[in-house]
Amino acid sequence: MGKEPGTTKFQVDFRRHLRDQNISGNLVHLLCEIAEASKYVINAVRTGDLGVAGTSNLYGEEQLALDVLSDRIMRKRLMHSGVVCNIASEEMDEIFQVTSNPQGMFSVAYDPLDGSSLVDVNLAVGTIVGIYQGADMLQPGRRMVGAVYILYGPRVSLVYSVGKGVYEFTMNQLMEFTLTREDIRMKPSGNIYAPGGLRKKYTPENERYLRYLEDKGAKLRYSGGFVPDINQILLKGNGIFLYPALTDTPQGKLRLLFELNPMAYLVEQAGGAATDGTTPILDLTPGGYDQRSPVYIGCRDDVEKAREFLNGND
Ligand code: AHG
Ligand code: MN
Ligand code: MN
Ligand code: MN
Repeated sequence: MGKEPGTTKFQVDFRRHLRDQNISGNLVHLLCEIAEASKYVINAVRTGDLGVAGTSNLYGEEQLALDVLSDRIMRKRLMHSGVVCNIASEEMDEIFQVTSNPQGMFSVAYDPLDGSSLVDVNLAVGTIVGIYQGADMLQPGRRMVGAVYILYGPRVSLVYSVGKGVYEFTMNQLMEFTLTREDIRMKPSGNIYAPGGLRKKYTPENERYLRYLEDKGAKLRYSGGFVPDINQILLKGNGIFLYPALTDTPQGKLRLLFELNPMAYLVEQAGGAATDGTTPILDLTPGGYDQRSPVYIGCRDDVEKAREFLNGND
């Protein structure tokens, strides 16, 4: 078969790549099921109702119809996968137990549609997934066995790691995920910064840190979508995303299980770092499924500098 236009030199599809990486059959199956589910989420994003669902989520936040629909798509796929025992979702009030026998099974925590409020203005959004061995998800993220995100942008891309490096797959015209980047590595320091939250609610230390980034010539790149904002920093290997503690929200906004642990896992696998300002994100023991945390994530030197500013060592 000749090279399709726009195809990559790899032409390796997702399942074949996973098998070549000697990943266990159950984990290969789970990752492929997540990839398959994302195709239905894409369809929902492109054609689904943009209105509100009239319900609220685990955090008491108003849900959009797309939040509920994409959550149902992910949950159905995972519960029928045959390899999942527990499911936690940013959009579900409580844990969904598929089976009480965790033997050989995984637990999955996901944000089915991060940035859902951006769909009605046609900005990029994504699905974020963290994978644990066995039943317990309230353990430090460092014990995860894998993480994935799918980015619904001009192209649909899937970025994953199971602890053997970070890989990007891009969806082709046949809706197959083919390998487009292997063993993604980040630079020690970068020149992009993505500051979440209202600037007027920044604490003096965070204000000083932003000024440090600006003084070193960093460019502000912030879309308001966690997945595209992280994807840009990860793939360019360049920069830092922060959503710090604000004067009125000491825990920040982003959710530890559904957003921060999976992204911290991927960024650390690519040689970057992620902290809450004191402790690595992956070393935090979640106090509950709804835990939020401040976050500084990206190039390791930029993250370390944030820690210095926050601990008065700048
Ligand atoms: P979600 O759509 O899953 O509720 O999450 C949105 C998050 C994340 O995508 C982004 O980084 C952050 O909200 C942006 O928050 P602000 O609009 O306060 O900057
Ligand atoms: Mn989210
Ligand atoms: Mn969400
Ligand atoms: Mn939401």
